[in-house]
Amino acid sequence: MNQLLAYLTALIINVVAWNQLQTVQDQQLAILDVTQPGFVLGTHTSWDSEMLKYVDKQNSIGTDSPTDLVALSDIGYPYQFIRSYVLSDLTRLMNDARAAKLDMRIVSAFRSYDTQQSLFNSYAKRYGVTQANRFSALPGFSEHQLGTAIDFGNGHSTDLSDSFFYQPEGAWLFRNAYKYGFVMSYPKDKQTYTGYIFEPWHYRYVGVDNATALYNAGLTINEYSDREAQRLSQWLESARLVVGLDESLPVSRPILP
Ligand code: DAL
Ligand code: ZN
Repeated sequence: MNQLLAYLTALIINVVAWNQLQTVQDQQLAILDVTQPGFVLGTHTSWDSEMLKYVDKQNSIGTDSPTDLVALSDIGYPYQFIRSYVLSDLTRLMNDARAAKLDMRIVSAFRSYDTQQSLFNSYAKRYGVTQANRFSALPGFSEHQLGTAIDFGNGHSTDLSDSFFYQPEGAWLFRNAYKYGFVMSYPKDKQTYTGYIFEPWHYRYVGVDNATALYNAGLTINEYSDREAQRLSQWLESARLVVGLDESLPVSRPILP
C-alpha cells in the first residue's frame, strides 16, 4: 500500500514537473526569435526553415534542387535561375542599382549538385584541392544549390575577386543589399568561422526583415543560428534546474519512477 502511494506521488510530481517544463518550453520557443533586441528572425513561419537553412562545410543539403526555380529572363538573364520568392526583391535591387547608375551584373545564381561538382573539379584541377576548398564549396555544400544565393559582378570584370568590394557595385551592395533581403555570406573578418575566403560578391537571400536584423547585428546567417541553438540549450539547462529534473534524464518524455 505504502509502495503504491509512493509510486502514485512520484508519478504525480513527475507529470506536474513535465507539464511545467512543457509550458515554459513552449513559451520560450514561442518568443525565441523576438527576445533579442533587433531580432525578427523566425517571424516568417513557413519560410524560416527554408530561408535560414544551415549550410556550411560540415552541413550538407544533399543532392536535391528546389522545385520552384524561375529564370531571370525579365532582368536579362534567361539562363540563370533563382527560387521564385527571391525574384521580386532581386528585381528591385537590380532596378535600383541601375537607377543609381551602377553596372550591376549577375554572374551566377542557382547551381545544381552536378554543376557544383563540375565547377569544384575544374578549380581543383587548376589550383589544387586545398586551394579550391578555400573558395569553392563541394557539391551538396553550396548555398548556390539552395537557389537563393547570387554572385554579383559588374561591367568591368566578371572575375570574382576581392577588389569587387572597392568597386562601386560591390560597395553599394555592402551598404544596401540587406534592404533587398540579401546578406553577405563570407565576410572578410569571418574567414576562420566560415572556412571560406572573403567573397564580397556572394550574397544570400533571407528576406528583408531577417537581412536587416543580421546586418544591424553584424552576424552571418549561421552565426545567428549557432547563437540561437546555444541560447536554447542554455535555457533548457536552466529549465531543468528550475523544475528540479535530474539532468541525466531526457526532457523528451515524462519521467516515471
Ligand atoms: N563560393 C562559394 C563558397 C560556393 O562555392 O558556394
Ligand atoms: Zn557564390
